[in-house]
Amino acid sequence: MERERLITPVSYRDGAVELLDQTRLPQETVVLKIRDYRELARAIREMRVRGAPAIGLAAAYGVVLGLQDLEDKAQLDRRFREVLEELKRTRPTAVNLTWALERMARVYRRERRRGLARLKEALLAEAEEIHREDIEANRRIGRFGAELLPEGVTVLTHCNAGALATGGYGTALGVVRSAWEMGRLRKVLVSETRPLLQGARLTAWELEQEGIPYELITDGMAGWLMARGEVGAVLVGADRIARNGDIANKIGTYALAVLAHYHQIPFYVAAPTSTLDPACPTGKEIPLEERSPEEVTQIRGLRLAPAGAKARNPAFDVTPHELISAIITERGVLRPPFAEAIADVLP
Ligand code: MRU
Repeated sequence: MERERLITPVSYRDGAVELLDQTRLPQETVVLKIRDYRELARAIREMRVRGAPAIGLAAAYGVVLGLQDLEDKAQLDRRFREVLEELKRTRPTAVNLTWALERMARVYRRERRRGLARLKEALLAEAEEIHREDIEANRRIGRFGAELLPEGVTVLTHCNAGALATGGYGTALGVVRSAWEMGRLRKVLVSETRPLLQGARLTAWELEQEGIPYELITDGMAGWLMARGEVGAVLVGADRIARNGDIANKIGTYALAVLAHYHQIPFYVAAPTSTLDPACPTGKEIPLEERSPEEVTQIRGLRLAPAGAKARNPAFDVTPHELISAIITERGVLRPPFAEAIADVLP
């Protein structure tokens, strides 16, 4: 597997899933070694690993962890069901999670009649294949996306759709990486992404590692910088894409899309086809995670609001397809009308 110079948020080695703990970045680089699938499920819920493709990949390796201590087949089906249910429950919005678990379940059904050792090997091989395919998809997304951008562009990105959010390389940040390598990019504006600050903590950290020029802005600054002509394109990832092209992504994405539309700035979504959900006709059917209000009233345990303050914390929003200029996938750049373009790339 090609891993040169890639930031790798998830990997599997010697019976353990290794996670680069994203709640500790950028101050500390801590690698967690996890051997129990329930602990891995907790790490996904706590967002030690996050970003749609990385969540799917972590869950796929979680299935491997879930069966590795089994020594006979008596409990096999029951255990497999428990592992799948536990991992599926972790985070509701990223469809890559159920997509990856369905791939693991297909291998399970195909191989379960063979010996246990053979089944375990096949499951690990499938998780590694999901990993390899995701990196490859990101590189293709990067190339397709970079070709869309004009020379010397300043792009604005939200949250973290980088190597940390995927098997490696990144989707929206994959496009940024490719555009930088091709000499097309001037700089990146990184919105800090309240409440959990994935932009300030993670995207800025990745760009720092790569030496790609960037400036951090608070979420509320985006509109004014667009009005001043300082943004050439908006580039974001997605957690789920409905059949009509509506997308769910980190809270704040919808506001950026409305602003981009008003200022006639292209709004691009970069995502692998594993993020398309044929079971969701429109954005209305996408399940949206609501997280603890404490993530809004506090930052890493430091209370910002008065004791007892009430807060809302929808973690994702839906951007209607009318506001999206193009969806960049590993199978090509999809343009409106999205329903037809999406139907063409679905397997
Ligand atoms: O809550 P998070 O940090 O998991 O949300 C991540 C995002 O919204 C990303 O933009 C999305 O998952 C795409 S990652 C390539």
